[in-house]
Amino acid sequence: MATLTIDPRISHSTADFVTAGHKLYIDGKFLSAASGKTFPVYNPATGEVITHVPEAESEDVNRAVSAARRAFDSGPWPRLSASERGRILWRVADLIEQHLEEFAELESLDNGKPYTIARIADVPLTVDIFRYMAGWTTKIAGKTFPISFPGDFHSYTLREPIGVVAQIIPWNFPLLMAAWKLAPALACGCTVVIKLAEQTPLSGLKLAQIFDEAGLPPGVVNILTGYGEGAGAPLAAHNDVDKVAFTGSTEVGKLILKAAAGNLKKVTLELGGKSPAIVFPDARIDHAIQGTASAIFFNHGQCCCAGSRLFVHEKIYDQVVEGVSKVAGSIKVAPGLDPSSQMGPLVSDEQYRKVLGYIESGIHDGARVTAGGAKTSDHGYFVQPTVLTNTHPGMKVVDEEIFGPVVCATPFSDADIEAILKQANDTIYGLAASVWTENLSIAHKVSRGLRAGTVWVNCHNVFDAALPFGGYKQSGWGREMGEEVLNNYLETKAVTMAL
Ligand code: NAI
Ligand code: MG
Repeated sequence: MATLTIDPRISHSTADFVTAGHKLYIDGKFLSAASGKTFPVYNPATGEVITHVPEAESEDVNRAVSAARRAFDSGPWPRLSASERGRILWRVADLIEQHLEEFAELESLDNGKPYTIARIADVPLTVDIFRYMAGWTTKIAGKTFPISFPGDFHSYTLREPIGVVAQIIPWNFPLLMAAWKLAPALACGCTVVIKLAEQTPLSGLKLAQIFDEAGLPPGVVNILTGYGEGAGAPLAAHNDVDKVAFTGSTEVGKLILKAAAGNLKKVTLELGGKSPAIVFPDARIDHAIQGTASAIFFNHGQCCCAGSRLFVHEKIYDQVVEGVSKVAGSIKVAPGLDPSSQMGPLVSDEQYRKVLGYIESGIHDGARVTAGGAKTSDHGYFVQPTVLTNTHPGMKVVDEEIFGPVVCATPFSDADIEAILKQANDTIYGLAASVWTENLSIAHKVSRGLRAGTVWVNCHNVFDAALPFGGYKQSGWGREMGEEVLNNYLETKAVTMAL
């Protein structure tokens, strides 16, 4: 049995898993990297190394893609009956649910997020998307068409799996991001090579065990741990990959696009954001304060849809800023495995330095700090929930995605909706937004006018497997979840027969 020195609060089974020798999952086998290399995994609450995982590189990518290619071209998965594929995905969901506590512990240990939140959000949402997509397997269908070409014809479409899919995911919701990618691709009958984020590989490695146990045929899902350049880049460029689905920074999204150009593989991208939360004077103030605080501080602001630009009508600006600052000051920042933690450390030393750098740059550019503004200790990657005022476009903190618990508040004065829409839309991103008002007409007008893939009214960060999620503008291409995501993993074939 492994010692619990990594953290005495985790269960023996999780400690055993973390400290066991980790392997890549390729062609239904657990294998070391071809080079034998490994890299360290850190606990962000302490900065200490907790284990090592294989460092996949080109040769491992080649092995994984070959396995996925074989599984797609001649294996059973795309040929299984739709209901059998659905049953296996349902089994995956059941198995994840059975290991809910262990997954929540792994997310907390590896990413830093509160265990209590991973337990009620990350893991249940992961289970949901597998069940939701299990339901879709039997409902993916083409259409028939009354065509007008001279003669007598029968025309219909077939919806077929796109083939071998490469998936590259980030660290902010390690398990959930894997599920958002894997569940629809598998429902459509694709085979997959997924590269986990180097900062948070543990829950994805545990998922490999679940797929194995669920009876997924070899090569249908291949799971790699490795760095972006070493493993992600050769995967995105691989000529035997038919499609690449990426979630991460806009900068790397652009590299993925270039890498995909070689064989013109299909691409979907879920990228950054700088989402506005707009509070109108008729909003329920207490509700708006709690809601807009949660919009930025949930998951430590490490959400692509974080409400990082807070626009408040001048009539209630002071009251809302004071309220959000008070919430910020009351959040218990502590290691994620501490049951009283409401906010854990940021994911990595790199992210910690980056976020503190943004706060410093904001202050340097003239922002006023009304809450937080610093690290909380010298131990671990903890940053105080931070509220900045006196900010304006042109400042880095307003224009760029911080991906940390930092919100920039700005008053607006116009009753004219067009003026606030212009400010809210003044960003290269278009992922999400929230509107806080009791006025139906304002709610609908603003929802229509926002250039964003998701608009929440009197709420923020509400996700469901049935709802499409994705970005306008430089926030990405395509949608995750809902019926919509199936388009990412299907080709459409038109068949016409002369009668
Ligand atoms: P990143 O975009 O570098 O990493 C995301 C994934 O892409 C990881 O699996 C990484 O290994 C992989 N990757 C990196 N370079 C690659 C390449 N050349 N080819 C193929 N794959 C590659 O994001 P990172 O460095 O972790 O975070 C940087 C910033 O990105 C964050 O501060 C945040 O602003 C943004 N970000 C946005 C996310 C989102 O959900 N939209 C998630 C994570 C980060
Ligand atoms: Mg990076």
